[in-house]
Amino acid sequence: MTEVFGVIGHPIKHSLSPVMHNAAFRHLNYDGIYLAFEVRSGELESALNGARALGIRGLNITIPHKERAAEILTPDRAVEEIGACNTADLSEWRCYNTDVHGVLMALREAGIDINGIRVLVVGAGGAGKACIYALRDAGEVFVTNRTAERGREVARRFGVEFIEMEGLATQSFDLIVNATPIGMKGFPDTLPVPEEVVRRCSAVFDMVYNPPETRLVKVGRKYGCRIASGVDMLIYQGAKAFEIFTGLKAPVDVMKRAVVSELEKLA
Ligand SMILES: NC(=O)c1ccc[n+]([C@@H]2O[C@H](COP(=O)([O-])OP(=O)(O)OC[C@H]3O[C@@H](n4cnc5c(N)ncnc54)[C@H](OP(=O)(O)O)[C@@H]3O)[C@@H](O)[C@H]2O)c1
Repeated sequence: MTEVFGVIGHPIKHSLSPVMHNAAFRHLNYDGIYLAFEVRSGELESALNGARALGIRGLNITIPHKERAAEILTPDRAVEEIGACNTADLSEWRCYNTDVHGVLMALREAGIDINGIRVLVVGAGGAGKACIYALRDAGEVFVTNRTAERGREVARRFGVEFIEMEGLATQSFDLIVNATPIGMKGFPDTLPVPEEVVRRCSAVFDMVYNPPETRLVKVGRKYGCRIASGVDMLIYQGAKAFEIFTGLKAPVDVMKRAVVSELEKLA
């Protein structure tokens, strides 16, 4: 019988996850299908229970449900600490955060050595927290956020330092991570930090993947920075979820080709 998987969120119609996972199923001749389900806030618990009752094997979980799902499902250690998940194994009623793997692999693909690195994470939402969790043991992590109160709370939670946005211009970092939607299609294509800060760093990582070439990426390139890609993060978080769902090794290259070709169509 065909195994059913999917992604739940709101809005969900632009998700690239179905293209990525269905390409992997086809490549491996796996009898599975991956669908996008529009689930509004307030409907999450019934959606998860309903999906389990219907025999849906696994779900990816995206905005606005990552935090609440971590409370409903049984979290692994990383989810417990981050307070947000993006992958649910419904047969086990467990949830995982594969964004952490996505972050580490995107940096590795870009040849960025994270040991001892001084990192600024811009954004204190789900993606920012996964990034802080991924990097805080390897390097010295700082966080900044539009809403200072939320940024401070996240910094406290992870034992890292909070910096006010207004205080950034005089600071230096090795790596700048954009974990906000600034630069994403539909948002202003501005820089998430002052240009001076980009000029002084040696690497940038923009989690935004649509478009893949944001202003942060272009300015980072201009100053000779190494560039870690949001597209790679998307693929590797998806690959890890695929492995949790199926127990099979994910065909990463196939998944990447499917995503890149879809992004070219959207450009
Ligand atoms: N490449 C990937 O695989 C991947 C995976 C996950 C996420 N992402 C991307 O990462 C970004 C953040 O996702 P998320 O899940 O962390 O979202 P989230 O939980 O909603 O958090 C959004 C963060 O961005 C900040 N923000 C929102 N709009 C802003 C604006 N106009 N100016 C400055 N800051 C703003 C928010 O600050 P406040 O606290 O002030 O609201 C918050 O810190 C999104 O663009 C998402 O597409 C990419």
